[in-house]
Amino acid sequence: EKGNFRHFMAKEMHEQPEVVAHTLAHYIDMANETVQLPADLPFDFARLERVSIAACGTAYYAGIIAKYWFERYARLPVEIDVASEFRYREAPLPENGLMVVISQSGETADTLASLRYARAEGQHVMAVVNVPTSTIAREADVVMPTLAGPEIGVASTKAFTCQLATLAAVAVAAGRARGVLSAEDERALVHALVEVPRLMNEALKLGPETETLSRSFSRVRDVLYLGRGTSYPLALEGALKLKEISYIHAEGYAAGELKHGPIALIDENMPVVVIAPHDSVFDKTMSNMQEVAARGGRIVLITDKTGAEQASLETEATLVLPDMDPAIAPLVYAIPVQLLAYHTAVQMGTDVDQPRNLAKSVTVE
Ligand code: M6R
Repeated sequence: EKGNFRHFMAKEMHEQPEVVAHTLAHYIDMANETVQLPADLPFDFARLERVSIAACGTAYYAGIIAKYWFERYARLPVEIDVASEFRYREAPLPENGLMVVISQSGETADTLASLRYARAEGQHVMAVVNVPTSTIAREADVVMPTLAGPEIGVASTKAFTCQLATLAAVAVAAGRARGVLSAEDERALVHALVEVPRLMNEALKLGPETETLSRSFSRVRDVLYLGRGTSYPLALEGALKLKEISYIHAEGYAAGELKHGPIALIDENMPVVVIAPHDSVFDKTMSNMQEVAARGGRIVLITDKTGAEQASLETEATLVLPDMDPAIAPLVYAIPVQLLAYHTAVQMGTDVDQPRNLAKSVTVE
């Protein structure tokens, strides 16, 4: 049931503080301020050679964010590919490798095929899934449930942030097992994760601002999303969300790629959404934003209080979130990105929960 909301997507966006808190409670031992994975692992993180990740759509973007986390917090090499490519490219996989597949439905054909390929190649298989009775959950060696509850809207929202919460916990567990994270580092990351639901509630307050912005977005043909580090996959996610429900053409790019092509698109008609928490790559992203401004581009900046104070350029709008640990920023920044797509689609009058040509679960190739 939609309750007081007009669409399932709106309801599911607003459920995120609650469901993410629930997911975190499943993976975090609050008393000891440690991560506690809910299942015994059939492998040892310390002995893993490499992680391979395969998933589709939004789940794939969660996977790219996880790659950054596994590399940073566990010094584990990660390769990632969309499942439709992974399944056919006959990638050589290492002796002691872990395959992580990510799927809300647990029934996506290409993701399932990737799991089967990896298993045949002798990989350990971990599934990060929302539907515990799904085929992918059944065929994996170990399941990390995302516990988002049923997601009805075709556009993935709470499933995405619960995937991120789960993957963050797994990355921290890996970092501890590999001796990369000290007890103190782990405690700091756990603290940061525990703050997420509160920060998500703050982010949801951007509803009216994103709604105002959606009026001008509903009149454009194209939108460009830019981000660096873990904000890069969020730029991809923002573009996907916008195109799938509003049918406005959008692209996500790594901010550093701007000069390598997409800068040619910049004019006074195309909004450029810059996702830039005040983190270690903030200054770099600001210089890309400068390049957009110098060409008369329309900038929508999504940042935090410190970032907003430091960004001196004029923007069409600046959406300001509270300052937070950059480690958990993707979970919180997902919200304004979703809100913007949602309100734009509502403005356009599209079928938000059931966009044309799309299915909730893609069980055929
Ligand atoms: O059920 P899955 O997570 O395997 O689905 C993957 C994609 O089909 C899915 O994320 C799709 O991209 C969504 N419509 C995005 O909002």
